[in-house]
Amino acid sequence: MKDNSSAFNSSIYDSKVNAVLPYYTEYNRQILDLAEVFGIKNSKWLDTGCGTGNLALRVTEKFADVKLVLCDPSAEMLEASKSKLAECDNVKFRNISSQELDYKNEFDIVTAVQAHHYLSIDERRKAEKNCYDALKDGGIFITFENIAMSTEQSEMLAIARWKNYMLAHGRTEEQTENHMKRRGTELFPITIEEHIKILKEIGFTSVDLLWGSYLQAGFFAIK
Ligand SMILES: C[S@@+](CC[C@H](N)C(=O)[O-])C[C@H]1O[C@@H](n2cnc3c(N)ncnc32)[C@H](O)[C@@H]1O
Repeated sequence: MKDNSSAFNSSIYDSKVNAVLPYYTEYNRQILDLAEVFGIKNSKWLDTGCGTGNLALRVTEKFADVKLVLCDPSAEMLEASKSKLAECDNVKFRNISSQELDYKNEFDIVTAVQAHHYLSIDERRKAEKNCYDALKDGGIFITFENIAMSTEQSEMLAIARWKNYMLAHGRTEEQTENHMKRRGTELFPITIEEHIKILKEIGFTSVDLLWGSYLQAGFFAIK
């Protein structure tokens, strides 16, 4: 049994994730770059669905004075984060999902990377409304998610590219097939338009695409 809802157990996640997510390292690069221009001196930053703490570690390396709160519903993922950030002060950990966040007007930045595509539309709305509530006015929400293509034809092309990527990165034919079956059964991607619509409906005043590929996209939204 897996200890979290991603494809991999917490103990092997870091060694496998780049073989199935073509641009995994790019997400964090984009987030840090945006955060830098947004301005985050002495800021409070919430990363929900923090996983093994890869983003958080880079945040602490780049922005020494940020106070971080890391949340994840998987106790094992959170433990992996704690080990990775053992040397870092100013980091708190909570074993909760985004639907359980209970913060009000506390954070300058909230991030959620590949954490909400497991949810139904209603759960996703709740999760992202909680991210909105956790932000101070003027705060920024940055999220990356798997996305759905807008037509079946584009979906087939995207999936074919993804399959080639995984095979070229050491996944077997069977592992690749099993991974692709997760779309629509374990995770439920929505289109870029649907993402933007939900964020606007929640109340964000400014919602935009940050980055996009054939399978994942990043969004930034200002409260
Ligand atoms: C693919 S991993 C991404 C982890 C990390 N953000 C990263 O970029 O490596 C998905 C993570 O989302 C967490 N997760 C699953 N459901 C969640 C929810 N409802 N709210 C917040 N996190 C969730 C999982 O426990 C897992 O740690």
